[in-house]
Order: sequence, then C-alpha cells, then structure tokens
Amino acid sequence: MSRSQLTLFADVLQEVEKFPGWMQENELRWIHEAAASLQPNQFWVELGVHTGRSALCTILSLPPWAVFVGVDIILGSHVGFSTFVDRATYLRPDIKLMLLKMSSKEACKLFQSESVHSVFIDANHTYESVMEDITLWKNRLVPSGILAGHDYIPDFPGVVRAVNTFATPVVHGYSIWEIKNPKNR
Ligand SMILES: C[S@@+](CC[C@H](N)C(=O)[O-])C[C@H]1O[C@@H](n2cnc3c(N)ncnc32)[C@H](O)[C@@H]1O
Repeated sequence: MSRSQLTLFADVLQEVEKFPGWMQENELRWIHEAAASLQPNQFWVELGVHTGRSALCTILSLPPWAVFVGVDIILGSHVGFSTFVDRATYLRPDIKLMLLKMSSKEACKLFQSESVHSVFIDANHTYESVMEDITLWKNRLVPSGILAGHDYIPDFPGVVRAVNTFATPVVHGYSIWEIKNPKNR
C-alpha cells in the first residue's frame, strides 16, 4: 500500500480490516466519505479510540495536512494499539496525529470554541456520558461542523436517549448517528 491519501474505499477497508473492533463496513464507508470531505489543516476529533479501527479508517481518508485527534481514557492499553499507530504514521506521514490519554471532558478543555470540524463520539455509552460529550464538544465545532457517533441502536439505550434529546439524527449504515446543524440544537 502506498503512502498517500487512499481515495478508494476498498483500499482503506483492506487496511482497516486488520484491526479488531465493532465498526461495520457500511459504517466505515460513511467515515471514509465524511473524513475525505474535510480540508487541509482542519481537525477531526474521535472520542474513544480503543484499538484504532475507526481511527485508522479516518486517518487514511483525511485530506493531506489534516489533523486527527484521538482521545481515550486508557489510550494505548489495548493489544494492537501500537500496530495501529505504526500503520497510521507509515501510510499517512502528512497527517498530524494528536493521541490524548485522558477523558473526553479533559480533552475538551484543550480546544477553543469553533476550532474543530468534526467530532465523532464513541467513548462511554451511558446516557450521562453521551449527553456530556455532545454538550461539551458541540461548542467546539465550527458552524458547519460534523457531529456524529456510533451505536445508535437499542442495545445502547443511553446513546439513543441522549442523541434524541438534541435532535432526530440521520442514521448512516448500521448505527452511526449524525445530528445535522448541531450548533442550532
Ligand atoms: C467502543 S470503544 C471505541 C471503539 C473505536 N471507536 C472503534 O470503532 O474501533 C470505546 C472506547 O472509549 C474509551 N472511553 C470510555 N470512556 C471514555 C471517556 N470518558 N473519555 C475518553 N475515552 C473513553 C474506552 O476506553 C474505549 O477504548
């Protein structure tokens, strides 16, 4: 695999499928398309990195010189994490990686309002945590920013209830929720 933005989803998937996780192919496809829609120097924040499956999909799909911020309270403790970092930095040396071992709430303090172009929420799935993540990070988004997350399914009633508090989301693939016009919610 060559070192550049992977414009074909099939090429991204081939890399990402080496990493375990819960993100399904149709969800990875949405991430691929959403990440590719950013511009150079724009920020994509992922809350909940785990082994890096969704993070790698994002990183491989971002435009050159974009910034990927991965936040996980136990960052690096999952088997396979270092392989994810090696692969991401080898394939996309042009992407600035910020990997933060801290809570979503702590990480939020590092960013100014309206400084982030996409926030993808896949951390703690309780109602209280998802409410907090949406409330805090919505403020960090630029006006046209992407606010989305994973596991909008009955198995995670806390996610569904919290997201519905803000808006009826658009659902992509199996369980990705996206709130359109998040700054107005
Ligand atoms: C479902 S996994 C993420 C999966 C990953 N996005 C993927 O698709 O491969 C959830 C992760 O969120 C992290 N997490 C849980 N609560 C958190 C919090 N308050 N702040 C940051 N990370 C948190 C966990 O440590 C775990 O690694």
